[in-house]
Amino acid sequence: MAELIIEKLTKRFGDNLVVDNINFTVPSEKFVTILGPSGCGKTTVLRCIVGVERPDGGKMKLGDQVLFSKNENLFTPTEKRGMGMVYQSYALWPHMTVFENVAYPLQIRKMGKDEIRKKVLDILKLVKLNGLEDRLVPNLSGGQQQRVSLARALVYNPTLLLLDEPLSNLDVVLRDEMRTELKDLQRRLKLTTIYVTHDRTEALSLSDHIIIMDKGVIKATGTPIDLLRDPPNSYAGIILGDMSLIKGNVSNNSEKTVEIKIGNHKIVCRKQRDWNENEEVGILIRGTEVVIHNNKRPVDNLLPAKIKSATYAGQIVEYKMIVNDQVIKVPKSIEEFIIPEEGSNETIHSLHESGEDVYIEIPDSACHVVKE
Ligand SMILES: Nc1ncnc2c1ncn2[C@@H]1O[C@H](COP(=O)(O)OP(=O)(O)OP(=O)(O)O)[C@@H](O)[C@H]1O
Ligand SMILES: [Mg+2]
Repeated sequence: MAELIIEKLTKRFGDNLVVDNINFTVPSEKFVTILGPSGCGKTTVLRCIVGVERPDGGKMKLGDQVLFSKNENLFTPTEKRGMGMVYQSYALWPHMTVFENVAYPLQIRKMGKDEIRKKVLDILKLVKLNGLEDRLVPNLSGGQQQRVSLARALVYNPTLLLLDEPLSNLDVVLRDEMRTELKDLQRRLKLTTIYVTHDRTEALSLSDHIIIMDKGVIKATGTPIDLLRDPPNSYAGIILGDMSLIKGNVSNNSEKTVEIKIGNHKIVCRKQRDWNENEEVGILIRGTEVVIHNNKRPVDNLLPAKIKSATYAGQIVEYKMIVNDQVIKVPKSIEEFIIPEEGSNETIHSLHESGEDVYIEIPDSACHVVKE
C-alpha cells in the first residue's frame, strides 16, 4: 500500500470552480474521510483521484506513481491506477449477475478463467454474498447491491479504495451494521481508504483523519478527537461537532480567560489564544454542557433565553433556544427533566415548551472561541 499525496488540486466545470487548489495526504493503510455538504466537490475530488475526471491544475502521486501533473503534462489513465471505487449510485450492471459484475474488472485485466472464478468467489465470501453469485443485480436488496459494489472494488487488491457515500441508500439499521463491517474489512485488509460522506456520525466513527470541505476548499483537517476538541473555525465546529455559534465582541482579556460581550450580557471563556479588545469573535458552544434554569440564579455565564422549539429524537429532546437573536441547540436527556422538588415527594416534569422564557448557564468548558 502507498501514500496518496494531493497538491494544489483544481477542477473547473466551465466557469464553475468546483475544487479550488486543495492539498491533502492520505497515509498508507489509513482511513481518511472527506466530509462536506451536498455540492461542495467531494465526488469531483474522488473522480479526479480515480482518473475519470481530468483536473485543471495540481499534482497527484500514489507512492512513486505520478497520477497527474499539470506542470509535467502527465496523466495516468484510470485502468493503470489500480484503484477500487464504490460509486455513489453503486453503478452496477443490471443485466449481469452478481458473479459477472464482480468478475468484470478481472476480465478486462485479461486474467485466466479459473483464477477469476477463485478470486470472485473468495471476495464474495468476504462480503458475505456467497450463494448469491447467479442472482441478477436488480433482484438484490440495497444492502446486498452495496456489497456487490464493494466486492467489485476490492476484487483486484486495489492500491487505494475510494468510497463515495456508499451507505447513504441504506436504512438506519443496515447502515450501522455495514459501517462496522466496512471498518473491520479495511483494518483486516490494511486498505488505504478515502471515504466520502455528508454524515458526521459516519465520519467520526470510521476515520483516522477527517478532511472537512466547503465550496471546493478544505476548511479543516485532523483526527476526529482533535477536530472535536479544538475546531479551528466555526464551520468545523458546526459540521463535525454539531456545535452552535453565537457572535460577540471581546470586552476583556485576562491571563487565562477572555470576556465576551453578547448584546447586554457577558460571558467568560477559557482563553486558547490572545484576542484584541473589541474584536468580533464566534463562540462555539457544546450544547450538551449547557444547563437550563427556570429562574435567574447567582451563577457565572448565565444568559436569558427563549425556547424556540423542542424536538424529540429517541431519548433526547433537542431545544433550540434564542439568545440575543441567535440560536443555540441544547440536547437534553428526557430523564434529566424529572426533578423531585426539595422537601416534597412530588415529581415535577419540567420539560420545556416553545415560547417559554428560561435562563441558560454556559460553563466555560462548553465554550470554544474562534475568529471566523
Ligand atoms: N460533469 C459536471 N459538469 C458540470 N458540473 C458538474 C459536473 N459534475 C459536478 N458538477 C458540479 O460540481 C459541483 C460539485 O459536485 P460534486 O458532485 O463533486 O459534489 P458532492 O460534494 O459530491 O455533492 P453530493 O453530496 O450531493 O454528492 C456541483 O455544483 C455540481 O453541480
Ligand atoms: Mg457526491
